[in-house]
Amino acid sequence: MITLDNIIEALKGVSDTPRLDAQYFYDYYKGCPTDTQISDFIQRRKSGEPVSKIIGLRGFWKRDFYVSRDVLDPRPDSETLIEAVLTTFKEQNQCLSFLDIGTGSGCLLLTLLDEYPSATGTGIDKSELALTIAQKNDANNRAKWIQKDFYALDFCAGLEKYDVVVSNPPYIPHNDIALLDKEVRLYDPLLALDGGLDGLDAYRQLSDVLPFLLKESGVVFFEIGIGQENDVIQIMANQFRCIKMYKDLGGIVRILMFQKK
Ligand SMILES: C[S@@+](CC[C@H](N)C(=O)[O-])C[C@H]1O[C@@H](n2cnc3c(N)ncnc32)[C@H](O)[C@@H]1O
Repeated sequence: MITLDNIIEALKGVSDTPRLDAQYFYDYYKGCPTDTQISDFIQRRKSGEPVSKIIGLRGFWKRDFYVSRDVLDPRPDSETLIEAVLTTFKEQNQCLSFLDIGTGSGCLLLTLLDEYPSATGTGIDKSELALTIAQKNDANNRAKWIQKDFYALDFCAGLEKYDVVVSNPPYIPHNDIALLDKEVRLYDPLLALDGGLDGLDAYRQLSDVLPFLLKESGVVFFEIGIGQENDVIQIMANQFRCIKMYKDLGGIVRILMFQKK
């Protein structure tokens, strides 16, 4: 019989976190994985597949989200966006309307809807497969899910004006993608990563459409990559002022909050 310690041993030199990986896997199978499941897990970890993609779940904020190769794994850094919204809108019973552009697994929107029980939300993604995962994560049918490309000319058609727009768009400069860890490069979708030549294409596009999607008092929370704050503030400057920056746990400016000028 293969024990938890055997799995940990097998993952040494394969993973930086062999104990955590093995425990997560073990817990997923409630402490009774079959030998086949164990050998499949070890083999897939050895080829670089993240634990989350193997078991199909990733923790974010207060719960687990279904994930697949069609969605970006929710990242701890993105929890900064949730903290930013909670800090801004302290009364959690208010009826806010949220729009999440590039929703992926739906982790941002669904977490916000969990935190604001009276709020409504719409999640948009270009990827139909990602939206299938987001819908699976929305067990209580709280959100509306729409397939749309934010580069499409009719992107705003049929959308309302929202109190809060959140977005963690693709922001990795194209040529940096080859340098990413294998776990990200091979197992997160390229559509979720590639931000064009300088990583800023999505912000340029969204800065043009956001004025049509926000109520007068509406605000935008953008997740950004390392060192992108000045460029993104500049891109938004025609119609928006940055009213607050939030740092992630690593001390990196991760979230920018904007208001219409
Ligand atoms: C960085 S991921 C963020 C996913 C999720 N919101 C999160 O924070 O984990 C970016 C998302 O934007 C979507 N996306 C990329 N280009 C898009 C486009 N042109 N129109 C709509 N969605 C797009 C991707 O499919 C992906 O789900």
